[in-house]
Amino acid sequence: MSTDELSVPAALAPGAEAAAGDGAGAERNGEPVVDAREVTRHYLLGRDTVVEALRGVSLTVPPGAFVSIVGPSGSGKSTLLNLLGALDRPTSGSLRFSGRDVADLSDAELAALRNTDIGFVFQQFHLLARTSARDNVALPLVYRGAGRRERQRRATEALDLVGLSHRRDHSPAELSGGEQQRVAIARALVSEPHLLLADEPTGNLDSQTGTEIMELLQDLNARAGVALVVITHDPEVAALAPVQLPIRDGVLDQDRASASALAPAPPASGPADAEPSEGSPPR
Ligand SMILES: Nc1ncnc2c1ncn2[C@@H]1O[C@H](COP(=O)(O)OP(=O)(O)OP(=O)(O)O)[C@@H](O)[C@H]1O
Ligand SMILES: [Mg+2]
Repeated sequence: MSTDELSVPAALAPGAEAAAGDGAGAERNGEPVVDAREVTRHYLLGRDTVVEALRGVSLTVPPGAFVSIVGPSGSGKSTLLNLLGALDRPTSGSLRFSGRDVADLSDAELAALRNTDIGFVFQQFHLLARTSARDNVALPLVYRGAGRRERQRRATEALDLVGLSHRRDHSPAELSGGEQQRVAIARALVSEPHLLLADEPTGNLDSQTGTEIMELLQDLNARAGVALVVITHDPEVAALAPVQLPIRDGVLDQDRASASALAPAPPASGPADAEPSEGSPPR
């Protein structure tokens, strides 16, 4: 079973409350963009069957990191992505976004945080069919109450980032699969999030186009400094990230999931304050 169908509308459309303002948007304060500690997520199936989709996952994603999470179908990838994307709350454990514990946030504050701080990219591109690339990209700004001129300017800039401003008037049907995914990536970036979550972003693309999309995500991570978490079942896609975390049966490879292992390659300035890890970061 997959939670993708459920997660998409919530990820791409904020709750009504979120449109009112950006009150929960966390400032970039040097805290990990997301920090999960011993997080579990159980689903109740019927009356008394409990599915333990996540069984104690700890993961710290510092600003600007790039990590892939790789595991087979049913291992808990989408469940974890829903938590990392503030779409869902853990059954137990702590989950913090830029230092703010989700347990202290209302649903409206969580929706606002999702709106301002997190961008989502999915296997199905989820573009509006009869809407131009630029208006698709501008959509999250409509929810945030930006004026038309500003929306168009920022959408064009985001399309520029993904190399598609010359296609801004095309509808999705007039774009290739790879181009559609680029539009979806531009839409994820238009709010200037500091965390980009991608669930099987290459799943609907041929391998050459998939590689190009991964290179684009990698480039955006390096250039724009947005932390990037890519979730995939494809080891070749996962291998493109400097840090790969295997997940199996709802358990993440804990040894590699520390802040030090996930810190972005070039230290910004001064010594890293993360504790040294046991063993060297996987590359
Ligand atoms: N809403 C739900 N209710 C009950 N069980 C669920 C629910 N969503 C997911 N599960 C179960 O939780 C486990 C993890 O599911 P999840 O969708 O996170 O896996 P996944 O790694 O994303 O798989 P895939 O690669 O097929 O997308 C599976 O055993 C699944 O059947
Ligand atoms: Mg999934």
